[in-house]
Amino acid sequence: MKRPLIIALDFAEQEQVNQFLANFHGENLYLKVGMELFYQEGPQIVSQLKNAGHNIFLDLKLHDIPNTVKSAMKGIARLGVDIINVHAAGGKQMMEAAMEGLEAGTPSGNDRPSCIAVTQLTSTSQQMLSEQLLIDHSLDNVVLHYASNAKQSGLDGIVCSTLEVPMIQKELGKGFATVTPGIRQLTDNQDDQVRIATPEKARQLGSTAIVVGRSITKAQDPIAAYKKMKAEWEGASI
Ligand code: C5P
Repeated sequence: MKRPLIIALDFAEQEQVNQFLANFHGENLYLKVGMELFYQEGPQIVSQLKNAGHNIFLDLKLHDIPNTVKSAMKGIARLGVDIINVHAAGGKQMMEAAMEGLEAGTPSGNDRPSCIAVTQLTSTSQQMLSEQLLIDHSLDNVVLHYASNAKQSGLDGIVCSTLEVPMIQKELGKGFATVTPGIRQLTDNQDDQVRIATPEKARQLGSTAIVVGRSITKAQDPIAAYKKMKAEWEGASI
C-alpha cells in the first residue's frame, strides 16, 4: 500500500458511478466499493473498475464462522481486489481463515490482496460499548486489543480513526497499515462522522491511506476537491 487517497464510491448504482468517474477522464484512481454498490451491482462492478485500471478496496467487512469466511475470501482473491476487510470481532481463528482463503484464491503470479480489520466502527461510542455490547473496557483498549489480534493473525493492518494512528503505531509498529476514513477539509460538512481529521493532519499523524467519500463525491467540482485533498495528503504545495 503506497499511501493512497481512496475515494469511497458510496453510490447506489453503476450509472451514478459512471457519471462520477467521467469527471476524471480516465485517470487511474484508488476506489472503495462498499456494501451499497456491491450488493446492487455484484462482482462485475469490481471487474469493470479493475479493467479500467483502478485499484480497488472492497469494503465488505466480513464476519462469519471461519470456514465461511475462508471460502468467501477465495472468491474475493480471484476478483483481483487490492484491499479487503473483516471485522476483528470475528476472532483470531476467523481472521487466520480469511488469510488462508486469500492465499488459496490468489492466482499465481498475482499479489495477495491486503487484508485489514475493522476494530470498532467509528459509529460505536463508549456508552454503546458498555451498555449494548457489554464490553467493560475503554474504547481505546478495545481498539488496540482487536488490532493486536489482527496483527497476530497475519493481517496487514486495520481501519481506524486518524486520531488512533499514533497509539496503534506505537504499540504495533509503523509497518502495520492504518487506513483512515473520517477525512474532511476544515470548511467541509462533518455529516455523520465524529472523529474527523484533515488530510494534512492524517499525513502528520502517519496514516497509511485515507478514505474520502462525500467531500469529493458530493462536491460541486469533484476533480478540484480531489486534487486539493490529494495535494494536502501528499504534502505538496498547491
Ligand atoms: O463520506 P465519508 O468521507 O464520510 O465516507 C467515509 C467512508 O468510509 C464511507 O464509505 C464509510 O462507510 C467508510 N467507513 C467509515 N468508518 C469506518 C469504516 C468505514 O467511515 N470505521
